[in-house]
Amino acid sequence: MIIERPRKTGHPLEFSSSPRERLSEVAPAPARDPAPVIYYMGRRIYFRPLEPEDEPLLRRWVNDPRVWRYLVHRPPMNAPRERAYIETLGRSDKDYVFGIAIKETDRLIGSVGLHRIDPICRSATFGLMIGDVNYHNRGYGTEATRLALKFGFQELNLNRIELSVFGNNWRAIRLYQKVGFVPEGCFRQAQYRNGQYQDEYRFAMLREEWNRLTDLEVPDSDYVTRLGA
Ligand SMILES: CC(C)(COP(=O)(O)OP(=O)(O)OC[C@H]1O[C@@H](n2cnc3c(N)ncnc32)[C@H](O)[C@@H]1OP(=O)(O)O)[C@@H](O)C(=O)NCCC(=O)NCCS
Repeated sequence: MIIERPRKTGHPLEFSSSPRERLSEVAPAPARDPAPVIYYMGRRIYFRPLEPEDEPLLRRWVNDPRVWRYLVHRPPMNAPRERAYIETLGRSDKDYVFGIAIKETDRLIGSVGLHRIDPICRSATFGLMIGDVNYHNRGYGTEATRLALKFGFQELNLNRIELSVFGNNWRAIRLYQKVGFVPEGCFRQAQYRNGQYQDEYRFAMLREEWNRLTDLEVPDSDYVTRLGA
């Protein structure tokens, strides 16, 4: 006796031979990439939350000597430790940490944070990492710093944003001065890197200084949002 497989004429489930086959026949088409999550928009970049899925990229960056040699915390980061770091910061009320993504490609290139937010003194400590070294020296750090200042003063109502930077980190020093941070002091030989003590410089910007700068340099019209456009 010859049994012919029935031709599909009705509902796709009707003639499927196995549960797996049935499932695959009705499975929805693969989802398209979801729209990017955009928290705060700049000109060429935007800030977005860091996700546990970003961990491999972040781990690669913070283990890169071209990056960690300029960071205060520099232990080797394995996957569980990096993941815990992302999750802890994500839950903290005293830290606003963002991924920095390029607007055109949605590519994550670094992270930026306002840490130790003090609601009484209205102050915070700024931190920045363009982790993908292929994106160094292209102005992204400058733009991320300006955007974080804008966020800190306009959204968190901060009065003071401070930072520290090692004396051998010329690129960062140049950036912070260009953006308008004011040098406040030097902690001599406070850090040790690459066989040498390094001075640690402190910079800060006050809200009144930022107000003066933005009147001149960063008018609100620069804050174009692709969400609203
Ligand atoms: C420091 C860092 C954030 C800078 O970001 P970036 O996107 O590379 O910097 P930008 O391109 O916006 O600006 C860098 C500026 O420094 C200048 N610069 C580069 N190398 C320099 C050097 N050796 N000496 C002096 N200035 C230098 C650039 O010419 C540019 O200035 P310009 O715009 O006037 O030409 C980034 O390199 C980084 O994340 N490094 C590793 C981690 C780190 O150092 N974080 C900061 C800790 S405080």
